[in-house]
Formats: sequence, structure tokens, C-alpha cells
Amino acid sequence: MTTRVLTGITTTGTPHLGNYAGALRPAIRASTQPGADAFFFLADYHALIKCDDPARVARSRLEIAATWLAAGLDPEKVTFYRQSDIPETTELTWLLTCVTPKGLMNRAHAYKASVDQNNAKGVEPDDGVTMGLFSYPVLMAADILLFNAHKVPVGRDQVQHLEMARDIAQRFNHLYQGDFFVLPEVQIEEDVATLPGLDGRKMSKSYNNTIPLFEGGAKALRAAVSRIVTDSRQPGEPKDAEDSHLFTIYRAFATPAQATALREQLQAGMAWGDAKNALYELLEGIVAPMRDRYDALMANPDQIEDILQAGARKAREHARPLMARLRDAVGLSRLGAAPVSAAESKKPSAKGARFVSFREQDGSFRFRLLAADGDELLVSKPFVDPKAAGTVIKQFPEGEVVLADSGDVTLEGAVVAQACAGVDEVRIRLALASLAG
Ligand code: TRP
Repeated sequence: MTTRVLTGITTTGTPHLGNYAGALRPAIRASTQPGADAFFFLADYHALIKCDDPARVARSRLEIAATWLAAGLDPEKVTFYRQSDIPETTELTWLLTCVTPKGLMNRAHAYKASVDQNNAKGVEPDDGVTMGLFSYPVLMAADILLFNAHKVPVGRDQVQHLEMARDIAQRFNHLYQGDFFVLPEVQIEEDVATLPGLDGRKMSKSYNNTIPLFEGGAKALRAAVSRIVTDSRQPGEPKDAEDSHLFTIYRAFATPAQATALREQLQAGMAWGDAKNALYELLEGIVAPMRDRYDALMANPDQIEDILQAGARKAREHARPLMARLRDAVGLSRLGAAPVSAAESKKPSAKGARFVSFREQDGSFRFRLLAADGDELLVSKPFVDPKAAGTVIKQFPEGEVVLADSGDVTLEGAVVAQACAGVDEVRIRLALASLAG
């Protein structure tokens, strides 16, 4: 089965080389792996939490979208969209807000850091804290849960938010007795370079030590590289590559052979100036073709807008049916559609989905897959004996399951069942992930 990978990027800044190596490049690579179903979005609702400058938010959305596309994101393969184009996000945020304990939010790092700063300053603990900042983890949970993402690649600072998303998902599933949400897993890329900046600390806008990715063109790239801090060893003196963040940056972009060559040249006394030239040449060779695409995209915002709108349409095809289920579950369905309380609607096995086998009049054997709420998701084709049916049932949770437009459900390439009307692949997958017993 495919793994849905989802990540968002807050649209407040201009991407630099560190963002490229640490986030964009690994995400785009991961999205091209077989079996990957990637959702990437511009977290522009999140931007409003930190930034009340409309021009900056607007500019950053454009720059970040152009950067992702220029860096090789394929909007045909990846669902690439803008958070604020998905109204279901804010709708779900409210449903989740209503099941989220305030105490859980009190523990969020970002909020606690603000309170600590206020206490240190001797002002009111909540001074300058908006409800946006306070509820930020709920919005982020909605981003993730709305698309039933399995894996969420993020930086370490976001791990707590992922734990909160799982917690909130579990509460909702439990309270409304259904397998509505997949519990997302955090994905920390261990081997991805955290790029050092000019001064050797982590490359970050807040340290003012960044190397620009596209901004300012080749000239700005060269100028930044020339400002990388090195030690005072003179040309001819041996230099230890492992001790130099210039080399760390080089290695993050070089082939292993190129890295070895530079290491040896430094050891043999290469001047820092020459090493900087080598780094510049390497980076420019990689960045220049992307920069051309970036400039072309920036000159044509309508093209980016069209891509994002198409992405939003794709994303909403997933968001809408789930949101409809959720509205039903909480009692916001059409009048007359008999709202049922969670307790009343509780069917025999509310804990998980299950397979139910039965015998046809003609003597053949079939099974159904029922969701935790009792809904029928699929009916198998007939089998000659119960053992054959049982074998297929056993294979289901582990096997590769695909739902075709025709409704045929294939397991490891063979058609084994027919999906019931209106059931999508995500629901089947969710049910298989939550099989009882
Ligand atoms: N909060 C994330 C950050 O600052 C951005 C983000 C928003 C996000 N929603 C998300 C990341 C959902 C992953 C999944 O980095």
C-alpha cells in the first residue's frame, strides 16, 4: 500500500540554502520514491500567527511556491496546495478544538516559551499571546488529520506538535467511536544535513548567517560564500576538513568522490580562498539551472496560481468526503438524517474494523470488511471453500491493496473483492489498519 507523506512550510520567509538542503531536497526526493503519495502545502494560515504584514505573507507564498517548483517538485505526482485554499482545514480545526483539552495546549513549547519570556520581563504571563499562537497545534493537527497522513517529515522542533496531533486524533476517534483518523507518525530525517551557516552555527535567518538560494543571483551566492568564516591557516599549511564548516557545506552538495578530493587538497595545503572558489563553483553548478526556472516562475505568478488551484482541487477531493463523515459523526448532518449519539450508534464491535465471512446459497464462501462503525466497505468474490477465503483475509492487512475506479479491489495484483458504493481507498486502508483482534 502507498504511504501518505505530508508536510507544510510556513510562508513567512525566503528559502535559503539551508532550507533547501534540510527540507526541500529530501522532501522532493522522498516524493519520487515508489509507493509515495506526497502532500506538500504552503502553511499560510500558520503564517498569520507570526506575521501581520500582508505584503510579506503574500511575497513569501509566491517565493516558496516558486522555489519548490524550481527545485523539482512535480505537481502532477505530488498534491501541492495552499492551506488557505482548503476550507475544510478551518472547519476541522474547530471540531478538533472542541475535543482538545486546554491543558494539553498549555504544555506546547511555543506557548510556554512566550510565557517564560513574559515572566522574565515581569509582565502578564499571556502578554502578546494570541489565540492563534495558543491553538497553533490544533491547526497543525487539522492539516495532518484531514488527509490521513501516515508520515510527517518535520524538524525536531515539531515533534511535540506531532504527538499532540496523535493525541487529538485518538480522542476524537474514541469520543465519536470511529476510525476517522490515522495516527500520524513523525519522520525525522537523521541523515539529512543540518547545514551550518557562515559562522558555523546552524544556518538560520535568526542568526543572520544564511547563504541565499536564489535571491540576488550568482553574485550574492559568491559574496556569501566568500564570507564563510575559516581558521587562520595560511596557504600551504595542512587543513583538517572535518574541522571546517566550509567543508560540511561542500559535502552536503558534493558526490562522495568530490568530497574526498577536496578533503585531500585541504590536507595538502589548499588555500581557503581556493576552497571557497571550489564551493562556489559546486553550488552554482547545482543552483543555476534551478535559479533559471525560479526566475521564469516568479515572472509568471499566474502559472503558479493555476498549479496551486489544481492542487487544491485534488486535495479537496480527499478532504470533502472525510469532512462529511465527521460532520455526521458529531451530529451536524442534515436535519431528518436522524442524528445518533455515539453511545446509541455503538455497534457490536466499536473497537475496530473486522472481516465477516458468510456462505452463499450456491455453496460458495465470501467475506465482507466492516468498518468499526459497522459500515460495509467491501464484499469479496466467491471462494470455493472457507480456507481459500481465510487465506485472503489473512493477506489483507499486509498486502498491497489497490482500489480501481471500477470498484475492483486488488490484493497483490489479483482482484479479490468489490468495494461498496461511495467507499474510497483511504477508508479501506483505515479499516485494515484498525482491524479488531
Ligand atoms: N508548523 C510547521 C513548521 O513551522 C509547519 C506546518 C504547518 C506543518 N502545518 C504542518 C508541518 C503540518 C507538517 C505538517 O515547520
